Amino acid sequence: MDLEGKALRDYMESLLPERDELLKEMESVAQEEGIPIVGPHVGSLLMILASASGARRAVELGTAIGYSAIWLARGMGAGGRLVTIEMREEMARRAGRSIERAGLQDSVEILVGKALELLPTLGDGFDLVFNDINKEDYPAVLPLCKEALRSGGLLLTDNVLWGGRVVSKEDVSPSTEAIREYNRVLAEDEEWTTVILPIRDGVSISVKRV
Ligand SMILES: C[S@@+](CC[C@H](N)C(=O)[O-])C[C@H]1O[C@@H](n2cnc3c(N)ncnc32)[C@H](O)[C@@H]1O
Repeated sequence: MDLEGKALRDYMESLLPERDELLKEMESVAQEEGIPIVGPHVGSLLMILASASGARRAVELGTAIGYSAIWLARGMGAGGRLVTIEMREEMARRAGRSIERAGLQDSVEILVGKALELLPTLGDGFDLVFNDINKEDYPAVLPLCKEALRSGGLLLTDNVLWGGRVVSKEDVSPSTEAIREYNRVLAEDEEWTTVILPIRDGVSISVKRV
């Protein structure tokens, strides 16, 4: 299911700020290799939210080639620090090269390992968490995100509409069920306030209220 319709999506993307050559090259590489990066629309949203919230310490779960990390780090600006977690070493190496090309090597630290294991070792008080790991891990990582964030911190999550499959009764695959469970907890837990934006594959913005 196409959430926005191709014509509308193209229109919205035509109005986004121009990207630099590095981001455009990463978009091409991701498309050629089938690497599921957030793309320019969600990337711009991440940058705006990181900037507008004044985030100084952020964590990203799921680095891939470092595309969304660059948007987040640029949004935080000088003095911002992003830790990004990637379980595949080769991806982490590629992300490191891109982050260096972006001149962000002093602002972004890449950790290789599983988010469920590494996130609890990072401590708490983070201003922002961006979650983009395997969808089946979403329910298990949610309480860890809550612990990592400060009160008033932002949890941003990609793929929460999962190509529309969240509303397909026939789809009971583990990834779809995991996203439904994640969205349900975020909606029902009074310690979160959440809104879902139907941009691309669905992005949610949650504020930790406690
Ligand atoms: C959707 S891609 C991330 C895309 C990236 N956020 C972007 O938009 O540029 C997901 C990445 O997370 C990694 N990953 C998946 N599950 C993970 C987990 N549990 N812990 C750490 N990394 C994980 C995958 O290897 C993959 O590179």
